[in-house]
Amino acid sequence: MSLSKIEKVLSQELSGLKEKGSLKGEETVITGVKQPQGDKGPRYFIQGYGDKEFLKMNSNSYLGMGLRKEVIEAEEEATKEFGAGPGAVRFISGTYKPHVELERRLARFHNKEAGMIFSSAYATVMGILSPLISKDTIVISDALNHNSIINAIRLSRPKDKKIYGHNNMDELESAIKESLGNCQRAIIVTDGIFSMRGDHASLSEIADLAEKYDPEFEEGILTIVDDSHGVGAIGETGRGVTEFTHEDRIDILVSTMGKALGINGGYLVSDAKVIEYLRETAPFYIYSNPITVSEASAALKTLEILDSDTGRKLLKYLRETTAYFRKGLVDLEYEVIKGEHPVVPLMVRDTKKTIALVKYLKDKGILSTGLYYPVVPKGDEEIRFQICADHTKYDVDYVLEVLKEYKA
Ligand SMILES: Cc1ncc(COP(=O)(O)O)c(C=O)c1O
Repeated sequence: MSLSKIEKVLSQELSGLKEKGSLKGEETVITGVKQPQGDKGPRYFIQGYGDKEFLKMNSNSYLGMGLRKEVIEAEEEATKEFGAGPGAVRFISGTYKPHVELERRLARFHNKEAGMIFSSAYATVMGILSPLISKDTIVISDALNHNSIINAIRLSRPKDKKIYGHNNMDELESAIKESLGNCQRAIIVTDGIFSMRGDHASLSEIADLAEKYDPEFEEGILTIVDDSHGVGAIGETGRGVTEFTHEDRIDILVSTMGKALGINGGYLVSDAKVIEYLRETAPFYIYSNPITVSEASAALKTLEILDSDTGRKLLKYLRETTAYFRKGLVDLEYEVIKGEHPVVPLMVRDTKKTIALVKYLKDKGILSTGLYYPVVPKGDEEIRFQICADHTKYDVDYVLEVLKEYKA
């Protein structure tokens, strides 16, 4: 059957995305990785650029774990022992020892009773929000929350949903008050780190408000934090925003193993009863394969490293390098959003100028991410740099030098 009629419509939709400025376009294809050499960190080869080397300043792999020898070996050994894929969903015959060990380890790491893994953090958020949102639930969500949260709420059709201005605790309190007497259960959901800006949620204020109004709801208030960009990137021991803000009253913590942990997959940790309930009700868990056994084994290795002296050293180096880079940008009189997270947004505040600077950097062998409207509000156009523990001082100085030349 010819697809010409539908393809015409799809082409129009794509043109609409292009006009809106939200078309992602052609992807950068990495064809090879060069391990760190001398004073340089890892370099990447890209399709269409021959043997030109690129420095990644836009990776979520904040600790450089994915390229570590011990992690790669753990992944290889598990593949040899258990095979390449799980072969089934968890409740059929896809649960392997490393999956279960990883769940226990994640729970221990975050000081929670139990843990549960999914194929990604996106799947975790989508998977858990719908079973937790009953017909009598109101969901209250930060305006800058990640796309997974926005879509999960849409899919779950709560009794009501309210969006509070980014980190605006007065608006959050008003939203809770407006819901009193209207529903049995309330869920407050927020990103831990907001990845476009590198800033973090006000967890203590959120927990205070949840505690204050919890008695007013028959089934209580549940707090859910997706700290995908926080875990392994911030906090003295890499526990993320809960550690950074010294706040342990969060009910459900979601995160990814695909960013600082350097592997792949998502998870949540919480009370054992919550996990028991979600194992029976979360569709993305029940009807979809888990991460591979080798990924689970590699993630276990990553957690072991993170929770050791080596991990502390990597985190310290990451903090220092981030501070060094931020200071360098400020000294060059670039505008940056203040913070300590390795996401360092250089505010350009103009789409054309942002595109031009991203191109200039790429010509110089530096990969960075330009963010424009509608991904960020008009006037907040930025280049998002991300520092990783495998960036060397040479690498960071090189980026600063290129940015200095650009200004000249
Ligand atoms: C807050 C948040 N949640 C979820 C995700 C998705 O993570 P994953 O790649 O594990 O699905 C991201 C990544 O961009 C994120 O920033």
